[in-house]
Amino acid sequence: MRSAVDNPFNPGSDVVPLVWAGRTVQLEDWRAVLRPRLIHGLPERGRTILGEPGLGKSALVRKIAAEAAENGDWVTPQIRVPSGSDPLKLVADALLQLAHAAGLASRREKRLDDLLGRVQSVAASGVSLALRESRGPNPHVALTQLLVEIGLAAMSKGVVCLVHVDEVQNISDDAALSQLLIALGDAITHRTTVTVPGGLEVEQSLPIAVYLTGLPEFEDRAGAKKGATFARRFATTVLQAIDDDDLTQALHEFVIHGWETADGAGRSTRVHMTQDAVATLVDLCRGEPFLFQLAGQQAWYAGQGPLITADQVAAGWRTAQREATAHVERILGRLPQRERELLEAMAELPAADRRLTTIAHRAGFSTAAAAGPTSQRLDTVRGIIQRGKKYSFRHRAVEAYLTSDWPEVE
Ligand SMILES: Nc1ncnc2c1ncn2[C@@H]1O[C@H](COP(=O)(O)OP(=O)(O)OP(=O)(O)O)[C@@H](O)[C@H]1O
Ligand SMILES: [Mg+2]
Repeated sequence: MRSAVDNPFNPGSDVVPLVWAGRTVQLEDWRAVLRPRLIHGLPERGRTILGEPGLGKSALVRKIAAEAAENGDWVTPQIRVPSGSDPLKLVADALLQLAHAAGLASRREKRLDDLLGRVQSVAASGVSLALRESRGPNPHVALTQLLVEIGLAAMSKGVVCLVHVDEVQNISDDAALSQLLIALGDAITHRTTVTVPGGLEVEQSLPIAVYLTGLPEFEDRAGAKKGATFARRFATTVLQAIDDDDLTQALHEFVIHGWETADGAGRSTRVHMTQDAVATLVDLCRGEPFLFQLAGQQAWYAGQGPLITADQVAAGWRTAQREATAHVERILGRLPQRERELLEAMAELPAADRRLTTIAHRAGFSTAAAAGPTSQRLDTVRGIIQRGKKYSFRHRAVEAYLTSDWPEVE
């Protein structure tokens, strides 16, 4: 009845999970703002979605891309940037594929053939192309021009072109980062003149949506180095834990209708969850999408029958506990020492005493002001804490790990 093949939960990365929770603000931004505005030729900034590991950045944009593709939009695959690699090559390659899908290659225009040839050179040589071929424009210019051509073709078809570059924090080369942001930014802000019914000529933006996803460190590099231009061209969101209500809602299907599975004999049966099981699962995962999938996966395996109980959720979690611990330790382990010390000092204090002065003193800062930059980063860049008169945790798994026995379960 409950087999591995039927298990709808999947803690693996880079797939859109079957059991989806929340992120309605970001999904609505795409559905109700970004896409409609682009279709109407209105200008929109690119979107940068950052967050600590496992918060669902990649899954979110893959879900948006899948929805876009279903609408007939043209989407790149997830362009994942491995550490230290040249993003221009990867983006050039993805744009060439889009150009083919858009039929640009088959138009047999000399201008387009030349352009595709130049982008092929970028795909082969990347940012170093500029050094080897002193003649000709920079690689980023070719990328912008091709993206503009794709955007024009998309416009004439009434669809959007969506570009998704993931793991952007891995772009370590300044020149490559700068060229990439300029190439994408120039295409987003490109205006074209179209003639509307009645013969009037108006300027419109191209229907190009750019999503950049990665770890929060990216903001430091892009923000500080590229300054105002980057901020004007890309709107940044730092993802937070998913609300318990949204997680509960996501499991509602199991409570009400049950999750459909095939029983091997050609019949389908349904796997239900008790309300207690849902509450236990939601409580254990602390808003972490990765832990949500992990807990769900193990709860599914913890029994065979058509009903997932709270006991099974707890039993499943015990097998996942080591991984849950490792997950939070990975998040903490990435933090610079001062940031970790501040979090630990905060966790040691009762919630009512978490004021900056007290935390700063306990963490060994000379003054509250000296702890300012560190606490600001933990708040605005990483979204792990919330500053205010009293400080609190936004990353509830980090909080639970530092302040209680979690992830241990009775
Ligand atoms: N909204 C969601 N609802 C349910 N599960 C989700 C949601 N978002 C992500 N997940 C699950 O959480 C896990 C982590 O997601 P994902 O790999 O997208 O995170 P990430 O932020 O890109 O992590 P990393 O920084 O390691 O790349 C995956 O198993 C994914 O299926
Ligand atoms: Mg990811």
